[in-house]
Amino acid sequence: MSHQDKRICNGLSNFIGRFRKQFAPITAALLAGSLMLPSANVAAEPSMEALQKVLKGQIGLMKPELQEKVQGLSQDTKMSLMAILAMHNRYSNEATMRQVMLEVFADYQSMAMGIMTDSTEMTADSARRLANHRIPVGGLLPYLGMENITDDRLAVLDGFNSSVEGNAIKLAAAADAGDMATAASLLGQVSSGCVGCHAVFRSKLGNQTYCVNPIPSIWRTL
Ligand code: HEC
Repeated sequence: MSHQDKRICNGLSNFIGRFRKQFAPITAALLAGSLMLPSANVAAEPSMEALQKVLKGQIGLMKPELQEKVQGLSQDTKMSLMAILAMHNRYSNEATMRQVMLEVFADYQSMAMGIMTDSTEMTADSARRLANHRIPVGGLLPYLGMENITDDRLAVLDGFNSSVEGNAIKLAAAADAGDMATAASLLGQVSSGCVGCHAVFRSKLGNQTYCVNPIPSIWRTL
């Protein structure tokens, strides 16, 4: 990790610590076998079985060497991966991580546009779309680089994911309340989450060799 990466990681570690505490009840609910999410952007109340099925389906799409690594992850890590999945209800059968990221970026820009044009609707809708972004085919793991598929590295994944999504949901609420000053200040916090995650997990930009099999070849080489 570069010096700059370390700096970003250290800066965010406090936040992640707080986030992981917030996540504990969700993980406990997952362990108990059911999950009710209060968050406004999540329509589904996925059961443990449903989430396990999604995770299993994702693992089924991975190349054998990645499958092996994922199966070797701790139960804690698997639970936190399912907790991330539980925050979303749009799973794609075709979109790669890059496509999802571009869609997320479009939502981010449209959120900024809403703020700059003082449109509470545009801002809130874009922020909620961003928070409930599509999950790429095969899940997130095939796109993170083999070196990142360890319990240690993945421990920070849900923190970054939620620093983006948690702040996007807050931003939507601020826009709903007509408080564009607060919405504007949260924009920076959302982008810190994007940048933090990129610093750790985007180590092989555009050159993933462990992507899931059904990806059209054009997206493998771009
Ligand atoms: C969970 C970690 C994570 C978070 C959070 C995240 N990204 Fe990404 N992002 C990635 C990874 C990994 C890639 C590289 C994917 C690849 O090349 O297969 C990427 C790539 C990108 C790209 C480049 C796409 C391309 O075509 O090369 C853009 C743009 C982007 N992200 C925007 C954003 C924005 C905007 C946010 C925040 C609103 C964000 N990302 C949050 C992990 C993340």
